[in-house]
Amino acid sequence: MAIQLQQVSYTYADRSMWRQTALHDINLHIAEGSLTGIAGATGSGKSTLLQLFNGILKPTEGTVQVLDVTITAGEKSPRLLPLRRRVGLVFQFPEQQMFEDTVEKDLIFGPLNFGLSLEEAKDRARQAMTAMGLDLALLERNPFRLSGGQMRKAAIASVLAMDPDIVVLDEPTATLDPVSRAELIALLERLCREQGRTIVIVTHRMDELLPYADQWALLKGGELAFQGSGRELAADPAILERCGLRVPQSLRYWQAAAKRFGLENEPPLLTAEGLAERIAALLRERGNNGGAEETGDGHE
Ligand SMILES: Nc1ncnc2c1ncn2[C@@H]1O[C@H](COP(=O)(O)OP(=O)(O)OP(=O)(O)O)[C@@H](O)[C@H]1O
Ligand SMILES: [Mg+2]
Repeated sequence: MAIQLQQVSYTYADRSMWRQTALHDINLHIAEGSLTGIAGATGSGKSTLLQLFNGILKPTEGTVQVLDVTITAGEKSPRLLPLRRRVGLVFQFPEQQMFEDTVEKDLIFGPLNFGLSLEEAKDRARQAMTAMGLDLALLERNPFRLSGGQMRKAAIASVLAMDPDIVVLDEPTATLDPVSRAELIALLERLCREQGRTIVIVTHRMDELLPYADQWALLKGGELAFQGSGRELAADPAILERCGLRVPQSLRYWQAAAKRFGLENEPPLLTAEGLAERIAALLRERGNNGGAEETGDGHE
């Protein structure tokens, strides 16, 4: 198991004794090499949850286990530096994690800190920029003078440069244009499927992740209201409404098609292309293609 939370609660507290319980009694399991989506209404505790995954926040109750590190509320923490290298966290607001005066310095900071030579660190920086589709000329630029989308990609690159086993991203596609959003999700899926990394993504756009996520965790008011597959959500989208979330368009289309064509027992098709192909095939099978002749064009 890459990440396991047992009865975890987290309460923010300040010196004035003002307290805000952001997470309550969470039991969550994330398998190694899986792709997990996390969704929930604003203020439901998503960002707080992510910060427990690399020890930035420590549970105020319960136990957080990440890879071979166990953090238990009220007990002395183990050394967290190795965990920070192995669990890369991309913040919700990328400017929170850029602090140097050039993009390159930001990207080599982590690798240098974890013992790589300057040459190796610069090499990692270039590879991560290329993976994010960023021009290497941007390495010399001040990160705070980049566009919102470039800065977000650079923030993700600075995490990838550390070659982490687990990559945790807080709304990574916010501020990106539609093409960049699709490219980023495809890149994250490759990091998972081809490189075996564990990927966790908080998103307000469930549609773009539904076809790829192995599982979903839905938060409601600081509680884990659901943990399961997209298939389970497709079978009972009311779960989403109970969490204060809109049912994603792809699920609504699938539900309508499943009802119309009696597909309820099939695995849900959650991309427009997949669903269109399935419906076209069904229409051909049923000879209900608007009266046109079979074209015999090789489609099954
Ligand atoms: N630093 C903090 N100090 C005190 N309370 C906080 C702090 N950060 C978050 N909270 C509170 O904890 C709760 C959960 O916040 P969190 O940021 O985890 O939600 P979220 O699901 O990420 O929301 P959003 O979708 O708006 O990003 C909220 O009630 C919030 O006001
Ligand atoms: Mg948040």
